[in-house]
Amino acid sequence: MKSIRLATAVVVAAALSVPSTLVATAAPVDRTPGHSAKDTLRGAAPKGFHIGTAVAGGGHHESQPYPDPFTSDQPYRRVLAAEFDSVSAENQMKWEYIHPERGTYNFGMADKIVRFAKQHGQVVRGHTLLWHSQNPAWLEQGNFTAAGLRSILRDHIKRVVGRYKGSIQQWDVANEIFTDTGALRTTENIWLRELGPGIIADAFRWAHEADPKAKLFFNDYGVESVNAKSDAYLALITQLRAQHVPVDGFSAQSHLSIRYGFPGDLETNLKRFSALGLKTAITELDVRMDLPESGVPTEAQLAQQADYYTRTLTACLNVRGCDSFTIWGFTDKYSWVPVFFQGEGAATVMGDDFSRKPAYTALRNTLAARR
Ligand code: XIL
Repeated sequence: MKSIRLATAVVVAAALSVPSTLVATAAPVDRTPGHSAKDTLRGAAPKGFHIGTAVAGGGHHESQPYPDPFTSDQPYRRVLAAEFDSVSAENQMKWEYIHPERGTYNFGMADKIVRFAKQHGQVVRGHTLLWHSQNPAWLEQGNFTAAGLRSILRDHIKRVVGRYKGSIQQWDVANEIFTDTGALRTTENIWLRELGPGIIADAFRWAHEADPKAKLFFNDYGVESVNAKSDAYLALITQLRAQHVPVDGFSAQSHLSIRYGFPGDLETNLKRFSALGLKTAITELDVRMDLPESGVPTEAQLAQQADYYTRTLTACLNVRGCDSFTIWGFTDKYSWVPVFFQGEGAATVMGDDFSRKPAYTALRNTLAARR
């Protein structure tokens, strides 16, 4: 099923493969029915501060009993346009989607997201170019020589970043390259394993050549606090910047759970990076919880979740250069959490019917207070 769908998409993408398909004129922003512009997250945000979401599609969605959310759920699209001024492809720019076969690119879905963003006055975060996960089989099992792999990565970065040149505000160039103990993932990550750590600098250089204006990021989870992993990033980025490698930012995914305490040193940690002159960002925030038997969160759980969302936002607002704050989906209807974390869920700011949870209101009020 998946391969048939992909094959069709590739043909369609080939037919449309002129970047001019990305040109769109700005249309008036749709409003969530019943809510005024001011009563939205993007309407409440201070000037220059981007409030984003992942765009649901691909990945776990393909095994769920609903059609592709982004292209088929009209109410979803209305909320997406009304509430956010930044979007990230949840899966559609990952290798397995955008480069499904050797030499074959499938830009169809990514183009649609970029076009939607233009139409609704949104910026785009690109995700991701060098990662150990969601790579196509042809790449992982290809037995390429080091020189072959290097040119595959170079071509991919030039082609993908080049296609969206001028349309992507921030790229997650390298994703999750360190383990929790701060060691490079030299076993699972094909690039680090086969090409050594020097490939990281090359990836940033190639991305910069392809789109000199895009801000280039390292992105990871479990780096919200000062710890071995965030220390490893601080050391690596310091070293790369001394070598004039074009690294612009460091971002904390922030997949949190109320099962654990809030990472209270998030602001302190981000400030270490900002002190190097880097941008920082929150890129994938969600706050999951253990669901009661009924499946319905308690009021206390929702209040605690709202508190985690607020504290994450406040930390970012308090750091110079942290002007991009993205939640990993806005409705529980499409969240990846129940699929990946057994027994947990309700991690986003809206219910299945797009009703606003306390976390939504807390975010909006926190933004409004900073205007
Ligand atoms: C997740 C997506 O949300 C799922 O749809 C997919 O099945 C797996 O990946 N860190 C990342 C994201 O950088 O790309 C991941 O997204 C979540 C963890």
